[in-house]
Amino acid sequence: MQLEGKVALVTGAGQGIGASVAQAYAREGARVAVVDMNGEAAARVAAEIVGAGGTAIGIACDVADRAQVEAAAAQVNAAWGRIDILVNNAGITRTAMLNKMTIEQWQQVIGVHLTGAFNCLQAVVGGMIARQYGRIIYVTSAAGVLGTIGQINYSAAKAGILGMTKSTAKELARYNITANAIAPGAATPMTEVIRTDDRFKEKYLDRIPLGRWAEPEEIAPVFLFFASDASAYVTGQILAADGGMTIH
Ligand SMILES: NC(=O)c1ccc[n+]([C@@H]2O[C@H](COP(=O)([O-])OP(=O)(O)OC[C@H]3O[C@@H](n4cnc5c(N)ncnc54)[C@H](O)[C@@H]3O)[C@@H](O)[C@H]2O)c1
Repeated sequence: MQLEGKVALVTGAGQGIGASVAQAYAREGARVAVVDMNGEAAARVAAEIVGAGGTAIGIACDVADRAQVEAAAAQVNAAWGRIDILVNNAGITRTAMLNKMTIEQWQQVIGVHLTGAFNCLQAVVGGMIARQYGRIIYVTSAAGVLGTIGQINYSAAKAGILGMTKSTAKELARYNITANAIAPGAATPMTEVIRTDDRFKEKYLDRIPLGRWAEPEEIAPVFLFFASDASAYVTGQILAADGGMTIH
């Protein structure tokens, strides 16, 4: 098993891509903290993992709230003594054309994606440095590279994640900690409108050379790669698992 003995903290793991990643890591032997602001969903995913013979705890936590993040990391450290792998996956969209977007919509998206990822990074990095080992995985998006109509907040946040990934990788390489980012394209609740609304669905599918959205289970192996020793010499990289949408 590729993650035997490792402890992973996956944010936004109550559903979608994060839930699949948590399950995939547990199948590979990791003990997994399933973190989500929806505590019931986190508990459900953790129970599914335990039911399948894995080890997991569900933790209710809003990543944008620094005190909650510190408490979640402390809970994991108290239970298992370490955090080796951080997946900064929690995310939201607040869609509006830029002249109509409220400052709250702007701040919420920046708060979850950028401040949330920063909160989690700082909560785990001390232990990783002390143990001279860590895997940090960020989640970006085609929106961060190409821009998206109605999502200036989300596009800015996901572009920001690219800079965070590279700075994290450069700053922490000396401690044997890698940092990489994945740009997924998957059929989850987050993408439901563009996958089902007649105004968008053909247009989006036309842009995906593979001609379909991925299931979250098809994205999880990429997260496994960046968490495992298979990627020991890979850092600061962005891998798009998007059916070719961002080929340019
Ligand atoms: N689905 C896609 O095609 C796609 C494409 C590009 C990027 N992404 C990114 O992948 C990640 C996962 O997306 P998904 O499609 O699985 O989304 P999703 O909406 O299915 O799941 C997101 C999860 O994050 C949780 N969450 C939201 N805000 C949180 C907070 N403040 N603290 C803790 N948990 C919070 C939600 O409760 C939910 O369980 C996100 O960062 C998203 O931006 C997704």
